[in-house]
Amino acid sequence: MSKTYFCLKIVSLSLFCVLSIYLFVFAFDYDIQYDLMKTYIQFKDPMPAVDIWMNSPFGKLEIYLFNVTNSEEFLGGCHKKIRLEQIGPITYNVIGFNDILSRTEDSVTYRRNRYRHINFLPYGSVSPNILNQTIVQVNDKAILDRSNTLFSSISVYDFLHSNFDPFNNATKEREEVFTVNIGIKHGMENFFRIQTLNGEYSIKTYDRANSSSSCSINVKGAFDNSLFPPFITKNTSLNIFVSELCRVIPLHYQREETKQDLNGYRYVLQRPNEKECLPVENGKPLPKDMYDMSKCVNNDIPTAFSAPHFYGSSYNWSENFEGLNPNAEEHEAYILLLPMMGIPINNNLRFQSNMVLPDLSYLDNKLSHLSNKIMPRLWYDFEMGKLPFIVHFVMYTNILQRMVMILPPLAALWSLNKIIKIRRQFNYKTINNTYNQQKANI
Ligand SMILES: *[C@@H]1O[C@H](CO)[C@@H](O)[C@H](O)[C@H]1NC(C)=O
Ligand SMILES: *[C@@H]1O[C@H](CO)[C@@H](O)[C@H](O)[C@H]1NC(C)=O
Ligand SMILES: *[C@@H]1O[C@H](CO)[C@@H](O)[C@H](O)[C@H]1NC(C)=O
Ligand SMILES: *[C@@H]1O[C@H](CO)[C@@H](O)[C@H](O)[C@H]1NC(C)=O
Ligand SMILES: *[C@@H]1O[C@H](CO)[C@@H](O)[C@H](O)[C@H]1NC(C)=O
Ligand SMILES: *[C@@H]1O[C@H](CO)[C@@H](O)[C@H](O)[C@H]1NC(C)=O
Ligand SMILES: *[C@@H]1O[C@H](CO)[C@@H](O)[C@H](O)[C@H]1NC(C)=O
Repeated sequence: MSKTYFCLKIVSLSLFCVLSIYLFVFAFDYDIQYDLMKTYIQFKDPMPAVDIWMNSPFGKLEIYLFNVTNSEEFLGGCHKKIRLEQIGPITYNVIGFNDILSRTEDSVTYRRNRYRHINFLPYGSVSPNILNQTIVQVNDKAILDRSNTLFSSISVYDFLHSNFDPFNNATKEREEVFTVNIGIKHGMENFFRIQTLNGEYSIKTYDRANSSSSCSINVKGAFDNSLFPPFITKNTSLNIFVSELCRVIPLHYQREETKQDLNGYRYVLQRPNEKECLPVENGKPLPKDMYDMSKCVNNDIPTAFSAPHFYGSSYNWSENFEGLNPNAEEHEAYILLLPMMGIPINNNLRFQSNMVLPDLSYLDNKLSHLSNKIMPRLWYDFEMGKLPFIVHFVMYTNILQRMVMILPPLAALWSLNKIIKIRRQFNYKTINNTYNQQKANI
């Protein structure tokens, strides 16, 4: 082996070593997730997260109805309280669609169609023929027409189609066109914050009785609940526009929770800070944690939304009803977010629709004590479908990066070791040669 060969070997190994050290230092500074997110917030089509969002929300809508099982006894005066039996779930498969209307570097405008496909799942429901069964509920026409039949029998199908949003003509006519922030100009923390809803910075609530009495709720800066900014912390302040409630609701960080092997932050809904914009129609303020809906949806029936089974409400339901069992596990509304990407893993906005009974003293005496009471009618929950593998992959990129980062230092060590060995060999050879030459000279 010649001297040049050794030199070449040492030089190339040294270069490799230096390169490895450089790679290590560079990778140490380089945050692959941050870079991915920087591309993602530009919200261009090829990003898989954009595809997922376009066909969202997706999952199962579960509806529970309340059947009155002692209407005769109650009307006859034998029973003091209305006995409610929960019927459900009545399950639907839901796939929404976000239709992008226009896009610039800094904003995207889209029409949110939350119930584009909605299909009844007979075998995911409490019974396959549940829609053909009948329940007994307060007759909403009786309230409007002031007739004497307070309770009536109605098929589950008819009840849902006259009372539940996705099947209601009123909702179908309600358009939701959002313009939200995208791109780097607004900063990563403002990604997907609402600029306008239907071209306005605020929504005006609907008042059928008095068009000059309206109240506006600011939606600018809130989220539409489909996406949130990347890298949210437990401290990030988040408000969502809840279209069912016509309100902007602040979120409150509660705890960490795991779903689909992904670690999420769980947020619960808080009472809005703003003054109660929409006092109840018949003059009485609603109990805490209830929302008057009569001026939100184009709806004649005074409706108040609460958490299912009046969970967390100060309303003393047990004075009037039997059969409810409020608990956090089944009834607390929450959102579970992936903090790194700001993608919801679960979106359990559970609400119960209640009828606010008016003054019924014109009816016979037995019913008059139901005046101004709040009658539960149905509640619903949404179970989000599984997120595709790509989301898991992005979540683990930092672990992958860390694993890959071990390689350059190993390579550097290996080449150093090799250099030392070769040098030793070379030195020994030279010494031996010199020694042999000296020997020959003697
Ligand atoms: C609702 O209750 C009534 C009795 O009040 C009963 O006849 C009916 O079968 C119940 N409906 C369902 C779906 O269980
Ligand atoms: C429900 O009733 C309709 C007609 O009344 C019938 O066509 C349908 O098959 C019934 N569905 C079930 C699941 O029993
Ligand atoms: C809902 O709209 C359809 C047509 O779009 C109409 O035929 C139907 O009568 C409407 N239903 C109600 C309850 O207004
Ligand atoms: C309508 O609302 C306005 C403003 O709140 C109020 O001054 C007016 O008296 C109301 N009219 C009726 C008929 O309630
Ligand atoms: C949240 O913010 C407060 C002050 O703004 C700070 O003291 C606290 O450490 C922050 N908590 C987290 C988890 O970032
Ligand atoms: C709620 O109603 C029940 C039953 O009527 C009664 O025992 C209880 O004291 C009430 N609670 C409050 C806080 O009013
Ligand atoms: C050193 O020289 C001796 C005698 O010439 C030879 O036998 C031996 O193999 C050499 N050693 C190396 C490592 O080249």
